[in-house]
Amino acid sequence: MSLKEEQQKYMQALQQYAEGKRFKYHIVTYGCQMNVHDSEKLAGMLQEIGYEETQVLEEADIILFNTCCVREHAEQRVYGNVGALRSYKQSNPNLILGVCGCMMQQKETAEDIIKKFPFVDLVFGTHNLHHFPRLLFEAVNSGHTVVEILDEEGNIVEGIPAKRASNVSAYVTIMYGCNNFCTYCIVPHVRGRERSRLPGDITDEIGELAANGCKEITLLGQNVNSYGKDLGDGYLFPDLLRDVNKIEGIERIRFVTSHPKDLSDDLIDAMAECEKVCEHIHLPLQAGSNVILRKMNRRYTREDYLKLVDKLRARIPGIAVSTDIIVGFPGETEEDFLDTLDMMERVQYDSAFTFIYSPRKGTPAASMPDGVDTEVKKERLNRLIALQNDISKAKNQLYMDKVVEVLVEGVSKNNPKMLSGRTRTNKLVHFEGGSEIIGEFVNVKITLPKAWTLEGRMI
Ligand code: 5AD
Ligand code: SF4
Repeated sequence: MSLKEEQQKYMQALQQYAEGKRFKYHIVTYGCQMNVHDSEKLAGMLQEIGYEETQVLEEADIILFNTCCVREHAEQRVYGNVGALRSYKQSNPNLILGVCGCMMQQKETAEDIIKKFPFVDLVFGTHNLHHFPRLLFEAVNSGHTVVEILDEEGNIVEGIPAKRASNVSAYVTIMYGCNNFCTYCIVPHVRGRERSRLPGDITDEIGELAANGCKEITLLGQNVNSYGKDLGDGYLFPDLLRDVNKIEGIERIRFVTSHPKDLSDDLIDAMAECEKVCEHIHLPLQAGSNVILRKMNRRYTREDYLKLVDKLRARIPGIAVSTDIIVGFPGETEEDFLDTLDMMERVQYDSAFTFIYSPRKGTPAASMPDGVDTEVKKERLNRLIALQNDISKAKNQLYMDKVVEVLVEGVSKNNPKMLSGRTRTNKLVHFEGGSEIIGEFVNVKITLPKAWTLEGRMI
């Protein structure tokens, strides 16, 4: 049976099963934007079957945990939250409980989840998301736990419906997997090798989003800078940016994540030329010491990185730069760490995601001698965060009394009287206004810059 036939067969069977029952679903997502978008696809398939979304766990007929394994903390939360649902299963025996995503791509972890939580009905990985209708059908019709995890990534499957969180700003995956094997990172082990979607499939999807009112898109990939290399016809990420820039209706283009070693001059040119590409880049540094960068297999030096930032700032005036940094990599000395602080000071990031190194089984770094005390790692993280806070605050101060263009994304999460949206430089702005302007571009004068957000008045 072809995949399309399989999808149709099980979709129809599930539609019949769900008919008139007003089934509800709830999806809990951990980790990166890629996972968020995978959850949007799971939601899309469930909606097509006839399920409706609910935020109330007690109401749900299916609860899915889309997991992340990039750090131990994310895994622990999954164990805690799945365990907490034991009583739900007892009070509603028809409830389907599923665990999927990156954590399940690791055989040992999947087995552990099944052993610890025998009440879980469905376990699958990242490579077989498109088989979800069949797996769900099997789960609702069999009395045992349905488990399917594929070792191989397989070909890209197009045409899975997605129910996106926002109509205004959408994620579009342009490539799957990663070839870089940074020594601390589990992603290449669970997401497989780099596979690029065909340019036409991407631009068709974006065209459709634009036709439905979408104004901003974020192109997703573990390393978007190497988009197209596997397609072998010379069409690369800068070409894609130029083509997406031509799509009518789309006003802003963003992308994550960029590996510094693959940030070409042509890409910087494309970013500068394309008026819709926003003045922001997320450029993970990971560490500021050349010794650690080498141990991490990052394949650039601090000097290379600084040159890149200079080039970006010269070519794209006002570009905001954000980053990811890991402290406490095995063997990191105080001197190495001071190099990281020094890079933070030199680059003057707009924002930084900072993490304590978390050993991941099966990665080379997990067997490197460590010797750094946990307390020392925590203290380094705090010093790093304190420095970035000062830098972010000072950077945001420069916005005082400035007028910025904001794409209104929705009602503010913390204050229902306020709206929120982002500047082209990816700063979150809160201001007063009515919900009728959600999805529009407005000018906001900044009146109160804070460390992480800006507050202002619409003009
Ligand atoms: N420990 C801590 N942080 C990690 N990251 C990836 N792997 C690990 C790990 N083992 C961080 C990197 C990456 C971000 C998504 O997560 O900084 O850029
Ligand atoms: Fe992990 Fe490195 Fe690939 Fe990013 S580039 S996903 S950190 S291996």
